[in-house]
Amino acid sequence: MSPQIHSARWWRRPVLRCAIVSLAVTSTMTVVLTPPGAVATAEAASTLGAAAAQSGRYFGAAVAGGKLSDSQYTTILNREFNSITAENEMKWDHTEPSRNNFTFGSADRIANHARSQNKQLRGHTLVWHSQLPDWVKAIRDANTLRGVMNNHINQVAGRYRGQIHSWDVVNEAFEDGGSGALRQSVFRDVLGNGFIEEAFRTARTADPAAKLCYNDYNIEDWNAAKTQGVYRLVRDFKARGVPIDCVGLQAHFGSGGAPGTFQTTLANFAALGVDVQLTELDIAQASPNAYAGTVRACLNVPRCTGITTWGVRDSDSWRGGENPLLFDRSGNKKPAYEAVLAALNGVSTGGPIQVGVNYRLVAQHSGKAADIANASTSAGAGLQQWAVSGGSNQQFDFLDAGGGYYRIRARHSGLVLQVASSSSGADVTQQADTNATAQQWRVTDHGNGTVSLVNRQSGLALDVWAASAADGARISQWTYTGNSNQRFQLQRP
Ligand code: G3I
Repeated sequence: MSPQIHSARWWRRPVLRCAIVSLAVTSTMTVVLTPPGAVATAEAASTLGAAAAQSGRYFGAAVAGGKLSDSQYTTILNREFNSITAENEMKWDHTEPSRNNFTFGSADRIANHARSQNKQLRGHTLVWHSQLPDWVKAIRDANTLRGVMNNHINQVAGRYRGQIHSWDVVNEAFEDGGSGALRQSVFRDVLGNGFIEEAFRTARTADPAAKLCYNDYNIEDWNAAKTQGVYRLVRDFKARGVPIDCVGLQAHFGSGGAPGTFQTTLANFAALGVDVQLTELDIAQASPNAYAGTVRACLNVPRCTGITTWGVRDSDSWRGGENPLLFDRSGNKKPAYEAVLAALNGVSTGGPIQVGVNYRLVAQHSGKAADIANASTSAGAGLQQWAVSGGSNQQFDFLDAGGGYYRIRARHSGLVLQVASSSSGADVTQQADTNATAQQWRVTDHGNGTVSLVNRQSGLALDVWAASAADGARISQWTYTGNSNQRFQLQRP
């Protein structure tokens, strides 16, 4: 965050705050009948796909063509998911097992199923070092390999032109470990690092309507060298106009679920101007909390546009021994399914917010409270931090806005917090409650009673300016970082 100098505005005016806080506050309050923790669920959707669609996202599954004749499998698939990825059938070993001999039978079967069931189709994958036939791996001449790679992309992406929502154009090109470099592969070794750019340019021409993704695993932790390597690639592509539209984070997680920096990673990629998608989600032992946390991280990032689990039932998973999916071997919904559905429906699942209860929002880095400047009751008065005073201009209650969002209402004024625009640094002021999206906030629970508040319209988080510890420091909105100047402790006054 870069500090900026602001001209005199409301947060610099002489401070009268708290002088009038004891004015009869409750006269402006509406009694909220929703009991604590039981947020209204009237609009809750009953399937993963429908629940995700409420926020314009998809919820998909990897599909094995051979299982489409299993009626239990297709019943779940058709009911719950609105996107399909071919688990293996569009890979090179299936589609071009020998040079220029293209075989699309099993891939077509999946594409046809998606079309007949009105599901989105993700393409997986055009250029990958694995499941790559030996005849490709044996090529040593750069011109030959370039021609072979581009022909493969043209033929495969061309066959499904117009049908693919997103293509994983290049898969898993980065090395594990601390190098942040590309991994050894026939493509890198014979064509050099530029093979990725070439693949994306060819794919754009082959299917101009498809979103073009770079897809990889172990890029969920912002601090990982591999994540940084991919980030540099995407930043470079965007800077030079190389066509790239999305980053697929595979999200194959251990039992603890996503790393603590996951949402930061999603937000940082998105800030480069690409969509992010969770493309192969599975979590060892499928803890409901781990799944819900992962889904919420996506929901908190507006450009996180969809989630795919890597299979349907545990028995369909490449990690079957770890039971990592949302349906058990008999096709029953697991507890993680309910947690994911609730998260997609925006239902509080034991998070810290209780509707109708007054809270002080105390910034974690400074110990100071969110405060309506000068205890003003006027629309337009701004939000700042100030030493905890006990005043009702430092007390807020949460109103359920539906879809997992809340309005935040100042106790002394009855006005709700609103962002002025979608820009980083834009003012947060109190305004008359219209339930506009600029007044709706999603709560990210960090545990221990601290939350971040992300605005629905802007996708930006409530943020104490420049992490200042001073009285009067402005609270505005900024790109979500999860840092302590974006974490507020919920205190009951
Ligand atoms: O179908 C044959 C079967 O007839 C044969 O007897 C058997 C012998 O091993 O192999 C079967 O094929 C297997 C195929 O899955 C279908 O189950 C292959 O051996 C096996 O290698 C293949 O594994 C796939 C793996 O990619 C290959 O790398 C997994 O299904 C698939 O889930 C997995 O998916 C990858 C993503 O594409 C990329 N990200 C990681 C992810 C998990 O590894």
